[in-house]
Amino acid sequence: MATYPSIPRHVAIIMDGNGRWAKERGRPRLDGHRSGAESVTEVLKGCIELGIDYLTLYAFSSENWSRPKAEVSALMTLLNQFLKSKLKDLDRQNIRLLCIGQLDRLPTKTRELIQRTVAHTANHAAMTLVLALSYGGREEIVAAARSLACDAAAGKINPADIDNPLFASRLQTADIPDPDLLIRTSGEMRVSNFLLWQISYAEMVIVKKYWPEFGREDLSEAVAEYQRRHRRFGAL
Ligand code: FPP
Repeated sequence: MATYPSIPRHVAIIMDGNGRWAKERGRPRLDGHRSGAESVTEVLKGCIELGIDYLTLYAFSSENWSRPKAEVSALMTLLNQFLKSKLKDLDRQNIRLLCIGQLDRLPTKTRELIQRTVAHTANHAAMTLVLALSYGGREEIVAAARSLACDAAAGKINPADIDNPLFASRLQTADIPDPDLLIRTSGEMRVSNFLLWQISYAEMVIVKKYWPEFGREDLSEAVAEYQRRHRRFGAL
């Protein structure tokens, strides 16, 4: 089977280390998140330059709700600012925004901004930015299983017909190709409930840098590492 000299179609990133970046500089955690938002802008530019079609960012996990109220609220404010300020850029760069996760748990203001931006960018075709918000892979899988169970109980589907494609069609990522490359910053070797179904065959690249230090060059290096890998998808 061939090696992969090509650009990954879908890159997914676990943006980790904002807090540690700030702590090491004697600054409040929020400064780390603010700098992290700047890295998001940089990496988006990098994706366009490299010709990556999909970028999924783990911006807020289901578990992040258990952080102190002040941090959760600061992260939501940062997200609102990002959505407001990026609309023009998304337009100019022809980027479509999608969001996955339990969006009904988000504050009303954030949900409204998401709805507006998603609707406004729906026909943009240069690339797709997927923000995972209030997202948990297990929660997503449970929701898909529940939807299939409901259909089976109602006699709409036969349980024997449930296979990988049918299951995947009930996930929030139904219309998005699986990630080819999963990047995690800050050196941690965990997947932390991110896209559990979808990353089955993703190449993982762990980067030591904290997320606020991660830029376009780091993205290019991660892609180069991906291109050196030999993807076999379980075959020989
Ligand atoms: C992980 O760092 C990061 C987060 C929980 C949130 C990610 C948010 C951003 C990058 C900024 C806003 C995002 C957008 C899309 C505008 P951590 O706080 O877990 O760091 P630590 O492990 O060092 O404490």
